Amino acid sequence: MKRSSFILLHTCLTVLFFSCFLCSAQRKTIDQKVDSVLRLMTLDEKIGQMNQYNGDWDATGPITKDGDKQNQVKKGMLGSMLNVTGVDHTRTLQELAMQSRLKIPLLFGQDIIHGYRTIFPIPLAEAASWDLDAIEQSSRIAAIEAAAAGIHWTFAPMVDIARDPRWGRVMEGAGEDTYLGSMIARARVKGFQGKGLGNTDAIMACAKHFAAYGAAVGGRDYNSVDMSLRQLHEIYLPPFKSAADAGAATFMNSFNDLNGIPATGNRYLQRDILKGQWKFKGFVVSDWGSVGEMIQHGYAKNNYEAAKLAANAGSDMDMESRSYIQNLAKLVKEGKVSTNVIDDAVRRILKKKFEMGLFDDPFRFCNEEREKAQWNNEINLKIEREIARKSIVLLKNDLVQGSRLLPLQLSRIKGQQSSEPAKIAFIGPLVKSIKDHLGFWSYDWPDDTARVSSLWDAFEHRLQSQAKMFYAKGCNIADTSRAGFAEAVDAASQSNIIIMYVGEARDMTGEAKSKSNLHLPGVQEELIKAVMATGKPVILLIGAGRPLIFNWAADNVSAILYTWWLGTRGAEAIADVLFGDYDPSGKLPISFPREEGQIPIYYNHYNTGRPATSDSDRFYRSSYLDLSIYPKYEFGYGLSYTTFQYSDLKLSKKRIKANEKIDVSLQLSNTGSYAGEEVVQLYLQDRFGSVVRPVKELKDFQKINLKPGESKIIHFTIDKEKLSFFNDQLRWVAEPGEFVLMIGSSSKDIRLKDEFELVSRE
Ligand code: NOJ
Repeated sequence: MKRSSFILLHTCLTVLFFSCFLCSAQRKTIDQKVDSVLRLMTLDEKIGQMNQYNGDWDATGPITKDGDKQNQVKKGMLGSMLNVTGVDHTRTLQELAMQSRLKIPLLFGQDIIHGYRTIFPIPLAEAASWDLDAIEQSSRIAAIEAAAAGIHWTFAPMVDIARDPRWGRVMEGAGEDTYLGSMIARARVKGFQGKGLGNTDAIMACAKHFAAYGAAVGGRDYNSVDMSLRQLHEIYLPPFKSAADAGAATFMNSFNDLNGIPATGNRYLQRDILKGQWKFKGFVVSDWGSVGEMIQHGYAKNNYEAAKLAANAGSDMDMESRSYIQNLAKLVKEGKVSTNVIDDAVRRILKKKFEMGLFDDPFRFCNEEREKAQWNNEINLKIEREIARKSIVLLKNDLVQGSRLLPLQLSRIKGQQSSEPAKIAFIGPLVKSIKDHLGFWSYDWPDDTARVSSLWDAFEHRLQSQAKMFYAKGCNIADTSRAGFAEAVDAASQSNIIIMYVGEARDMTGEAKSKSNLHLPGVQEELIKAVMATGKPVILLIGAGRPLIFNWAADNVSAILYTWWLGTRGAEAIADVLFGDYDPSGKLPISFPREEGQIPIYYNHYNTGRPATSDSDRFYRSSYLDLSIYPKYEFGYGLSYTTFQYSDLKLSKKRIKANEKIDVSLQLSNTGSYAGEEVVQLYLQDRFGSVVRPVKELKDFQKINLKPGESKIIHFTIDKEKLSFFNDQLRWVAEPGEFVLMIGSSSKDIRLKDEFELVSRE
């Protein structure tokens, strides 16, 4: 063979060999790749992957002070860091990780709860929108912005059901209802994870806090939870299941003990249910220090035992307690934790790193251009404003001398004939506040005061010279001074109409913000009374992260909007709604109590043997001698500027077998004069069961947009799934029998009703 032909043949074979090798490498599944890395790892390196530290920020960046943490990164003793953001910082740390023997990339996690740079309404407020597309979109944008800043992983969504507004973290979830919560859990996971891990705009979701953290006794954060397994499965677990089914990459366990066993060391929750029954393939991170906290719980004697209990129970990564890094190697050597347990945890963690594409390029989230482009993204801000508008709940808009105060019309305010501009007084401690709009769990960006508007700014910008604006703070949010009342009354007296903005401060709800008193803080309700005494019309805005109690105002002020904390464009969104650019459509995702003594209060209670039909039925349903048993505002409640009529309820069948379905249809008509959206809510009651069933349960809903005069036929499907519940054996069953179908505008305002029967189990 000629030398040239030989070289050609040799080259061809070499190319063929390498392309086959590459093909087979590419064909390698992620699981195979994970295993090939795992085979190279020492026990210490494996345990390192199960270890997560906080970033310890200081002026010059993350972990610069703590040389020990840096060394551990270089030695491959760390799998993840939290609270390290920004392309710069994440790159610096990733570069350290690349100095480790096996160059396993770090995961950067962060609490992206309701936005990163663009702050969206707090999750409870967004839940009030009942708009799943909007919620998915807000999580999507949060992910895009966070990913552009080097973040791989959010510790969200919080999918804890909360029936107790004393619990400060009620602001982080979707409220009291299991069905709504499950739908929202799915929407958020889809939003965060976008088209799937591996895309550089997708971040890993983390369903938390597993489980039942929202049922802490007395609404006190971190407190114990004691509940029946049936209640756990029926009320508290479904949103987690929904998040897992939607592909949530990770779960976080919780601080509380559940029926005596700390969630972090709870094998039943993590191994049996999550990884067993639900076949969850992601990994579980502990909550901050919760592995070590099992000592204080009185469950583990020391960190050695805590690490053993947590790892064996299925807690894969230790957030900040250092129990794993300090004890797992010894535990393995002493046979207390098996290598299988370690390998399973590490496999789960590595798998996510592979899926995120970090083994291909550990710096793929470190792109300055992308970070810059997402920093002040006007499109995101516009979408934020739209979602904020959808989250506002109109609680009251009574007729005053034949007309309603809302939406605001300047000509009506000043009187049709007057040539003078309208005079509007803005009164209350939140009128000029800025940061409060952002709510708890939001970042403090140095330019927030410049980029976020107060309500005053938003109105000034909008009204220009069309109205004369007066301002009086009246009082502070929480103190007892009434010194500003006179000025407030004076401003009110000079005006045609008053907009009052009261409520909580941003940091009064959130983690470790449990409260026993939910009344409007300080002397704000007295300020309302003083202003109302002028006889001028008052529109009341209440900003808060949780349901507050404001009975006098609720009974006496004729127009009230619950505005929660609405995010970066919150003030503009409030102005949009007040002026009728958007007809409010929010519905409460949680019951508002009249007094704290009613808590826990929720709509889907049991009938009991003595169902009450009114508060005067003293011997019925354990009525109070001194308090109504009904909430001030019920779950699902919220008004609109327009009116909706429900009619023509039709069921395709009145008797079905378990494998059949019922088509439910009805007509919804906009009978008012504004275009608007209505949340049509479908509730079911299973009349008799092998275990008692709630008086009603939300099973479906649709948010429908109608122009004035427009009607639409709406369809729902009733299937076996909607009729099923956990029986006393914890089996998910549909039992033959009668069901009541209720369609309404809230859990109380039922407009259409019918009955049907399930005639077979299968
Ligand atoms: C503790 C909180 O309970 C949890 O929700 C959060 O993700 C972690 N801290 C990290 O900040």
